[in-house]
Amino acid sequence: MEQYVVKGGIPLVGEVEIAGAKNAALPILSAAIMCDEPVTLENLPDVNDINVLIESIEKIGAKVDRLDRHTVRINGSTIRNCSVDYESIKKIRASYYLLGALLGKYKEAEVPLPGGCNIGSRPIDQHLKGFKAIGADVQISHGTIIAKCRRMAGAHIFLDVVSVGATINIMMAASRAEGRTIIENAAREPHVVDAANFLNSMGANIKGAGTDVIRIVGVPEFHGCTYSIVPDMIEAGTYMFAAAATKGDVVVKNIIPKHLEAISAKLSEIGCEIEEGDDSIRVVASKRLRRTHVKTLPYPGYPTDMQPQIGALLSIAEGTSIVTESIFESRFKYVDELSRMGANIKVEGNTAIIDGVRQLTGARVSSPDLRAGAALVIAGLAAEGFTIVDDIVYIKRGYEDFDGKLRGLGAEITVVNSERDIRKFELSVG
Ligand code: EPZ
Repeated sequence: MEQYVVKGGIPLVGEVEIAGAKNAALPILSAAIMCDEPVTLENLPDVNDINVLIESIEKIGAKVDRLDRHTVRINGSTIRNCSVDYESIKKIRASYYLLGALLGKYKEAEVPLPGGCNIGSRPIDQHLKGFKAIGADVQISHGTIIAKCRRMAGAHIFLDVVSVGATINIMMAASRAEGRTIIENAAREPHVVDAANFLNSMGANIKGAGTDVIRIVGVPEFHGCTYSIVPDMIEAGTYMFAAAATKGDVVVKNIIPKHLEAISAKLSEIGCEIEEGDDSIRVVASKRLRRTHVKTLPYPGYPTDMQPQIGALLSIAEGTSIVTESIFESRFKYVDELSRMGANIKVEGNTAIIDGVRQLTGARVSSPDLRAGAALVIAGLAAEGFTIVDDIVYIKRGYEDFDGKLRGLGAEITVVNSERDIRKFELSVG
């Protein structure tokens, strides 16, 4: 099984190009099958979750041409099957976006129910509530969600929780319902806006994405288009934190600085210098960072997908920090691993109390999930000595060429497959 081995203690310096956002690309790829003309998607990240979704779309009959590493052309006119196979989709939770896409287009969908996952319980009751409100009959049978309707009609939907997935899923289905749908208490994340912009590029009529009230007027069909996915704010934030943890000087490029405001503000608050360009941010950390308090919230608040990374960073900051996770219940699994590297962290309920230590020391750790895995790599980059990160399959779900981009910034990191590879790396970097 692949692992990363990292030699810590080297400040990251240089520039890194950020890929398209995984969490925008997943719904956009799903929505593309709603069109019977070719749709070209650019700036897709080359990560495992995206590649699994592309395979699933092909399996139900859509034609997918890979034009290059980051561009695909999709034609949904050849879809013959509204039932998504469990084996092909069980690894990605975002399979739920195929429900909204198939229901909107064909008025029927059968998609295996995504289960819980490593970051906690992930209910989809709000998605289903939205589908029912616009006229779908939704049943759960043998682990599969079966949604059907004769006619879909616009409705007024108030979401009980702010949910990215439910907002986008309802938006997709409602964009093909008759009449007007209003989603209140909608999520405002940049990927919600990107999904709405993409649907509009295919001819949908969606207004208000990026606010908490989204208005959709259904249209009978979509037309082909070419669309480029928004840059990944979480990938960008991860490199910004890696720069801060290693007392480095890094420019993240091809980003939208506005999307990163909550992250940049925290970095300034704890003592980094931040320079914003039109489509870049430079992070310079020259001294030991300071403590802070942070609570994860829906956008524009501090993102839950950056919670483990800030936990790793604050574990070496001066003073006592408090990190509160308010979105997912099991997002502190990385804490035990960080403790093995010398961090001093106590978790009480949804709060981590972090007493910063001067230095972490390299250890063998295991990635509990995607963002936690990235946080452990950040810790390894800052630690003294060698860190081996197991289960990097999680990291590869969402970060394109993570080790290659870090090496581009001067890090000593590589992918290994055996104890022999680890020894070889240790000898080569000294
Ligand atoms: C998306 O998940 C992202 N995934 C997650 O990214 C991200 O952590 C999350 O949004 C929050 O920003 C994708 O975009 C594929 P939610 P999603 O619905 O849509 C509760 C990563 O690391 N809820 O916004 O599934 C839910 O339990 C990942 O890239 C309900 O109660 O998240 C949570 O507490 C992991 N009922 C809160 O809402 C529902 O029907 C927000 O979840 C739906 C959600």
